[in-house]
Amino acid sequence: MFTSVILAAGMGTRMKSEMPKVIHKVCGKELVRWVVDESKKAGAERVVSIIGHRAEMVRPVVGADTEIAVQSEQLGTGHAVMQAVPFIKDYEGYVVILSGDTPLIRAETIKAAVEYHRESNNSATVITAELPDASGYGRIVRAADGAVLKIVEQKDATEEEKKIREINSGMYVFNADALVWALGKLTPNNAQGEYYLTDTLEHLKNDGRRIGGYTIADNDEIRGINNRVQLHEAETIMQERINTRHMTNGVTIVQPSSVIIGDDVEIGNDTIISSNVVIMGNTKIGSGCVIEMNCKIENSVIKDNVHITSSVVLNSEIGEGTSVGPFAYVRPGNKIGRNVRVGDFVELKNDVIDDDTKISHLTYLGDSDIGKNVNFGCGTVTCNYDGKDKFRSKIGDNVFVGCNTNFVSPVNVGDNVYIAAGSTITEDIPDNALSIARARQVNKTDWKGNKYNK
Ligand code: UD1
Ligand code: CA
Repeated sequence: MFTSVILAAGMGTRMKSEMPKVIHKVCGKELVRWVVDESKKAGAERVVSIIGHRAEMVRPVVGADTEIAVQSEQLGTGHAVMQAVPFIKDYEGYVVILSGDTPLIRAETIKAAVEYHRESNNSATVITAELPDASGYGRIVRAADGAVLKIVEQKDATEEEKKIREINSGMYVFNADALVWALGKLTPNNAQGEYYLTDTLEHLKNDGRRIGGYTIADNDEIRGINNRVQLHEAETIMQERINTRHMTNGVTIVQPSSVIIGDDVEIGNDTIISSNVVIMGNTKIGSGCVIEMNCKIENSVIKDNVHITSSVVLNSEIGEGTSVGPFAYVRPGNKIGRNVRVGDFVELKNDVIDDDTKISHLTYLGDSDIGKNVNFGCGTVTCNYDGKDKFRSKIGDNVFVGCNTNFVSPVNVGDNVYIAAGSTITEDIPDNALSIARARQVNKTDWKGNKYNK
């Protein structure tokens, strides 16, 4: 069992942002949120987030399911972890320390490091990496037998120590009691005048305890984000990871470099995703779907064999065999049935649409309950808003709606109704009726007022 402590109090000056660094996003999810989620996946029983810089902006991102400790002055990584002491002082498990700006760390790696720590009977384990260019990082100083002696920061390192290629990832596993004890020993006597978390290792070592180094297999996992270039690099790596997972599961992604899929998205096999597609949030896509170019799909359930082209789908459900687009805007709150056609320039909001209905072109339906096998002519509009309130309309089964019809909500239209083109429907229509609601055409023959006839 372990508790994660996530350091997320820093400024992130190099992002040149009004937002704190850790709430910038990779594949649609905040940097610190990736770290929280991975540590939960790895089995953390509790997560403590250390926040500070612009705490009010970070809190909503992590506050719902992590404990919060506020570090109001950033006096170093050791000082940051000291803020977590109230949460871990009587804790008997392990404490995993992670950095809120290192989103590529994986649950399996956290788990493996904890396992290594446990098996080795260490008091502390530092997660390390071998880098071709170690500059900027703390260097791992090991004894001849491989035990970790200490970590030297770049600014405090001798020329010899600077040559070391094994670096401190900034992630650790500690026994809680050892960590609390060693934090109490820290002083800011170093080049940066900070409380270095890394110094805890030396204190533990000098106290005769065992320190280990767990060397990571994939150096990408320890990439910290300091600027927008690194943010982009992490985006690319994460995107590739997620897309590869779906391709391995039987999804065809024609051009993965242009496809962004959120971590929580599920996609069935034999679905084909073409270029420039973004699928985010809590979205589930079935099997045999075709998601053609330029789509954005968010928090939606797409059943099997659905075809979507160049459209936006938000917080909606789309039934089996339905087609959407090109250029449809499916706004939040729709429940669309099976074999429905939502064609070009169609906007839907908060509708329930039953099976086999066709909304082929240039139509807005909002706040409506629509039956089976309805055919909407081109240019249908629900007038669902009077400037103050919104109203629902209901349209029955097998209704034929002539082109350019307006429904002034609320109205109820029965089953098997036929509405003449150009009608403005303001009153309910009973079953089986033909409804015509438009001015009669008048032709003034031989009209002298027409200047072209002069
Ligand atoms: C730290 C390590 C270094 C390691 C490197 C890995 C120390 C002394 N050094 O260096 O060995 O190689 O990380 O990236 O620990 N933070 C706070 N409050 C603070 C200071 C920092 O929350 O008062 C947070 C930062 O927001 C960041 C993390 O801790 O997420 C690391 O801090 P940073 O200042 O970047 O440490 P480094 O100097 O890079
Ligand atoms: Ca850093």
